[in-house]
Amino acid sequence: MDYYRDTWAEINLDAIKWNVAKTIQHLADSMTMFAVVKANAYGHGDVQVAKAALNAGAKGLAVAFLDEALSLRKAGIKAPILVLGASRPDTAGIAAKYNISLTVHEKEWLTHIHMEEGQMLRIHIKCDTGMGRIGVKTIGELQSVIDELNQSESYVFEGIFTHFATADEVHTAYFEKQLQTFQELVSSIREKPRYIHCANSAATLRFQGAGVNTVRFGISMYGLTPSLEIQPLLPFELKPAFSLRTKIIQVKQMHAGEKVSYGATYEASEGEWIGTLPIGYADGWIRKLSGQEVLVDGKRAPIVGRICMDQCMIRLPREYSCGTEVTLIGRQGDDEIIMDEVARKLETINYEVPCVITARVPRVYKENGQVVHVSNPLL
Ligand SMILES: Cc1ncc(COP(=O)(O)O)c(C=O)c1O
Repeated sequence: MDYYRDTWAEINLDAIKWNVAKTIQHLADSMTMFAVVKANAYGHGDVQVAKAALNAGAKGLAVAFLDEALSLRKAGIKAPILVLGASRPDTAGIAAKYNISLTVHEKEWLTHIHMEEGQMLRIHIKCDTGMGRIGVKTIGELQSVIDELNQSESYVFEGIFTHFATADEVHTAYFEKQLQTFQELVSSIREKPRYIHCANSAATLRFQGAGVNTVRFGISMYGLTPSLEIQPLLPFELKPAFSLRTKIIQVKQMHAGEKVSYGATYEASEGEWIGTLPIGYADGWIRKLSGQEVLVDGKRAPIVGRICMDQCMIRLPREYSCGTEVTLIGRQGDDEIIMDEVARKLETINYEVPCVITARVPRVYKENGQVVHVSNPLL
């Protein structure tokens, strides 16, 4: 056992594999899937998720920054890795050394690249078709990047891609406009690169990758819907992979008028049972979650009073013993607290919730109901 505290995130690798395999089945045979494992696999743990996704049929991985790609290489992962974001040009040599593909977002970037003699860098060109983020916008800009690539033997023009701003919305007009712009840009290239990609999870599941040959599959690999509004349009039900659990560390019965937590904002009524949980805002369980319900014995119990740095308190329906398991995200008994419920309370999207569960919370990986790995950067 590689952790000693009573709070942990449980990552169901079978769910990750199922979501990947089921999605691949849903796509044309010619389609290649890159699993998006940036941000420590949206808080799930990049190495374990990457291995599970590759095992289930993904052919490559995508991250946001070179450091994330290098950490996967350090862990022994050999699959193609693409850095989606802009990297510093002076890091091109390191990317080449570790066979990591980088994104070019403007011609200027290529003129600052530094690599040693004989090094070879794989390049994907990013097109900005309507995100307004990074990328080339016109056929002219695209062609000037390709001309620059063609001037050197050190580059392999491996891919071209764009990113949708609204694929997770029911209305498709803006998505279609972006797709058309991308198609025009791709059509203008004489020698097409190996990977042509535009679809995130929403476009992968709704439009089967939007007619090109590669998808970048992120949020739905984790079993989460890209948005609540398109959930009814998804071709199958996804399996959530992330649960957050803890155990009650103390139970006490209160007298009427006794207070709970900082600011003494919560007042107990006579005989009320209060349980203390060893999780707080330093774990990413932030103060805005006061009032959020958790599951004890399959039943809901509210968080009362302010959430502290390392602890918070819940109102119990009756006395429970210390060590009783509590689920903050996930299924317990007949009830389930889904990521979207917590996201709603936080006034955000499901993507953000596991990302902000901090490294202090160990990740416990399960396969076939058994713990197969524990990741705890503290020990
Ligand atoms: C460039 C890029 N591609 C793909 C993805 C994956 O998107 P999703 O998680 O919606 O599948 C992201 C995620 O933000 C991204 O920024």
